[in-house]
Amino acid sequence: MTRRFAGAAAVLLSVTLAAAAAHTSALDRVPARFRLRPNPFQGTPEAAAAGAKLFARHCANCHAPGVTGRFRGPALNSFQIRHAPPGALFWVITNGVVRRGMPPWAKLPEAQRWQIVTYLTAGPAPPPR
Ligand code: HEC
Repeated sequence: MTRRFAGAAAVLLSVTLAAAAAHTSALDRVPARFRLRPNPFQGTPEAAAAGAKLFARHCANCHAPGVTGRFRGPALNSFQIRHAPPGALFWVITNGVVRRGMPPWAKLPEAQRWQIVTYLTAGPAPPPR
């Protein structure tokens, strides 16, 4: 009886862990060496302004204008995005999350991808949700 219970608990635990893994953000799966890449424009208002324009052009149709809303893609003003390492955001933008509907943006020049990262991480961070 106890052994059967332990077996059932182990199965339940592994199912729970698998479900949790399936819901981790793409940002958590960025390889360490890419996470550590610094944003060459960090804190530069001109780069954030350029990033805002690029975001409106390329991203807002899925993520909604102004990052607070959401259409097909999630809102991007989350605590997690604001506190993500810039290198992780750059990696997700570059590679996308293709199987979940986020296209890769490797075709944008690197400088433009960093400008978007600057825009996403500029301004006061919202509280944790
Ligand atoms: C065709 C729709 C679409 C477009 C266009 C798009 N995205 Fe996404 N994006 C998504 C979806 C869907 C997800 C959620 C993927 C997932 O579930 O992991 C996502 C996820 C993300 C994430 C990770 C969010 C998180 O919390 O894990 C970032 C960052 C992101 N997008 C940035 C951008 C940027 C910047 C652009 C423009 C260069 C862009 N996206 C354009 C659909 C899109």
